[in-house]
Amino acid sequence: MWTLPKSKTCEVYCVSGHGHSGCTAAQGEGNLKPTHSLSPPTKPEEQAEEKVEGGKAPVCDSWTRWMLGLLPFFPFIAAIALTLHYLTSPPCSVFFLGGSVEFPNLSFSSELADSTSHQFRLQAQALNHYFSDLYKSSPWSPYHVRSGITAFSEGAEGLTVFYWSKFSAPDNVAMEIQTSSPERLQRRLPGSNKIQRESRNEQRYFMQQDDDILHLLGLDPDDFDPDERSDKIKNPNSIQGGKWQLGFQAMSFDLYAKYGNNRTLSLVSPKKPYYQWRLRVPSGHVVRLVVLTLHGATPGSCTAHKLSAYDFLLPLQNKIIARWCGLPISGSSPVMKLTSSGNVMLVTFSFSRQRDGAIFKAYFQAIPKAGCGGSISSWNGSISSPYYPSYYPPNIDCIWTLRVPLPGYLISITIVTMDIQDSPSSDGCEKDWLDIGGVKLCNPVSDSSKKRVYSSPLTLHFHSDESLTNKGFYLLYRAFPPEGTCPRQFRCGDSRCIPLKKVCDGVKDCSDGRDEAKCSSCRPGELLCGNNQCKPQSQCVSQSICADSSEEGGCGGKCYHVCPNKVCLSKSSVCDGVIDCKDRSDELNCTRAYVKGCSSSSYKCANGKCVSKVNPECDGVKDCYDGSDELRCGCGIRPKKRTKIVGGSDAVAGSWPWQVSLQMDRYGHVCGATLVSNRWLISAAHCFQDSDAIKYSDARAWRAYMGMRVMTTGNQGAATRPIRRILLHPQYDQFTSDYDIALLELSAPVFFSDLVQPVCVPASSHTFITGTSCYVTGWGVLMEDGELASRLQEASVKIINRSTCNKLYDDAVTPRMLCAGNLQGGVDACQGDSGGPLVCLERGRRWFLAGIVSWGEGCARQNRPGVYTQVVKFTDWIRQQTKGQV
Ligand code: ARG
Repeated sequence: MWTLPKSKTCEVYCVSGHGHSGCTAAQGEGNLKPTHSLSPPTKPEEQAEEKVEGGKAPVCDSWTRWMLGLLPFFPFIAAIALTLHYLTSPPCSVFFLGGSVEFPNLSFSSELADSTSHQFRLQAQALNHYFSDLYKSSPWSPYHVRSGITAFSEGAEGLTVFYWSKFSAPDNVAMEIQTSSPERLQRRLPGSNKIQRESRNEQRYFMQQDDDILHLLGLDPDDFDPDERSDKIKNPNSIQGGKWQLGFQAMSFDLYAKYGNNRTLSLVSPKKPYYQWRLRVPSGHVVRLVVLTLHGATPGSCTAHKLSAYDFLLPLQNKIIARWCGLPISGSSPVMKLTSSGNVMLVTFSFSRQRDGAIFKAYFQAIPKAGCGGSISSWNGSISSPYYPSYYPPNIDCIWTLRVPLPGYLISITIVTMDIQDSPSSDGCEKDWLDIGGVKLCNPVSDSSKKRVYSSPLTLHFHSDESLTNKGFYLLYRAFPPEGTCPRQFRCGDSRCIPLKKVCDGVKDCSDGRDEAKCSSCRPGELLCGNNQCKPQSQCVSQSICADSSEEGGCGGKCYHVCPNKVCLSKSSVCDGVIDCKDRSDELNCTRAYVKGCSSSSYKCANGKCVSKVNPECDGVKDCYDGSDELRCGCGIRPKKRTKIVGGSDAVAGSWPWQVSLQMDRYGHVCGATLVSNRWLISAAHCFQDSDAIKYSDARAWRAYMGMRVMTTGNQGAATRPIRRILLHPQYDQFTSDYDIALLELSAPVFFSDLVQPVCVPASSHTFITGTSCYVTGWGVLMEDGELASRLQEASVKIINRSTCNKLYDDAVTPRMLCAGNLQGGVDACQGDSGGPLVCLERGRRWFLAGIVSWGEGCARQNRPGVYTQVVKFTDWIRQQTKGQV
């Protein structure tokens, strides 16, 4: 807390040879003009060795003295003047500033640590001119009363001097002096305009009007009286150059510890009410204070007894690191461990009554100044506040950036200890805080919020202000794959994930060697048949590839379903919406809760009846009694059909009239999409995830281009619409790419033409048969790390059985995904095709949307097919969201 001292009436008075006139206190530093008293009082006692005369007599005091001198002679005039003046003059404050300044051209020696030494006095005297000049040449000259040098310490580049200055000034000037930064008080060499620059690292603070502080400085509280004489009369002991510390009220000890030394502080049977220890360590180190015993400070008696530690060599309120008013008698363990931010610390003990017995024992040591923060890339570890479990130092900022070693992982943080200075204000942490991923913490955390999950990279920022510190925080972090899996990667025994290409590459990457364990001589994606032959994994579904029919083992150990032609299917291939057996037996008799009474492969008519025919919708034959299977069939037609994607070819104009290019003003084509009605597009959710720099989720940033083939030539013939809104699937998971689907509403309907047509959205019962050739289209790059295509590309890809695909991708293919491609490699979608269509031609010569380009490892690599969002899993969601418009 920062409070102004009590104010008294102050006389700032201009006196000329012609009499005197009231002088209002100057406004603003630039206007401040020293005012001269007629006969400035001289005060020889103020030339004490480490005390510095402030240049001119303070105006506030001199007026009173001047008046006193004149009174016997001019009682009436004076009485009137005094009364008038009293009524008109601004109130006056007496206050102290305390500060430190470093002189690079001077050096510290151990003698300077002892304020009774000869060297101390010499150095203090030598520095007198500094403060005289400082204030003499400043606009504050009339208000400076005097200054004193209290201590020296080793600076980073020279000698650091700790001093105080007393002022007496009208309130408005007082305020200005107190709040000015040290730099504003520029020192000019006397008689010239040259600014002295021999000092650095200046700090200056307002000192609370506190009896304790003044006693510790060897001053008397009566110093707050603007009349300088009064304190001399009442307390002649208060300022005795170099002696005060052994004088009246306070006892002072100066201690220095080299690195490796412990120096003891103890207080036994104190006889004085104030004690202080000025602790110093070499520059580049900080002071660690270990309090061993502390008796005599009783809880609740903070005004009467207190032990305080300051991060400065003056007892300044805003530099208190910790204060104890009372603690239980300690046992064997240390009561407290504190750290300073620099190489000094002041420890003070004050109490009102004389006490007997040992009441305080501590030691201190120099510890090298530790840096904090940094960039961490690790699987697990811990982060704590500096010097934990010692109290963290005041005045520091530490920033850590935590990165998981492999992409796709999350970071789990467990907060073990959280002991940061509580913030009194309810809205946020203003003093000390720990910011994790943009959220500031400063109060103890409840058990339930001790564990948190973040994405990588994660930034942690610890901040401590100038005063009051605590134990700090200690937390553990761990990188983990989402849902315990390794998205698109191989999972080692210790649950670390490694890139798939490291599997079976002859080098053990997992600590348990699991990545090389089941390789035999076969490459990834191949199976080792019983006769020790390697066969492509996809062939496990076709019969007699392995002469001994042992490939069932490669299908997962057992056959969940065997097609009539003896093809073995795993459980995940049955009832997954993809027909694997030629007779569809793997997709019959599947029960789905949401199609009551109908099997998964049967189509549900609008009247609720089901038809057993596979994919009856829009096939030109009326299968439902109500004809609903042939309604909503204005789709999937290519009116103009007479027509890379990697390994694909240029498409002829109008061959894919549902293909949409999604563009952003500043970046051009970013993703593909598919037109499914005159208002709605389907795309991939991952196209709309914000990056640090770009807000992809903002619908206003996008434009849809339809009926376009060549990207570069001004989009002729293209219909373009802004996007009204983007509906992301609520379960979209950016780490696994599950539920990678988004609906985009156009700002206005688009008109269908030969070049612009919607594709058919399959019924949820629709099945796309493994091995069917379908087409993927887009303007994506023509090879990994290549450039976007300027002409729309098309590529024929085959639907791949999910369990085969899952083996190639280490179970990263969820039931919402569909694989398509060519296991030999060479044909695939790639970057920039995302969100675009995978379409299959069905009976009735209509094209249906089977998939949305979602992901793949690289592009067109062998055994790394393209992975698509399986649209049939979202038919109901699409119909719901578009209110039946699709
Ligand atoms: N995610 C990519 C995109 O944003 C599409 C990747 C498709 N990759 C593949 N190999 N099929 O454009």
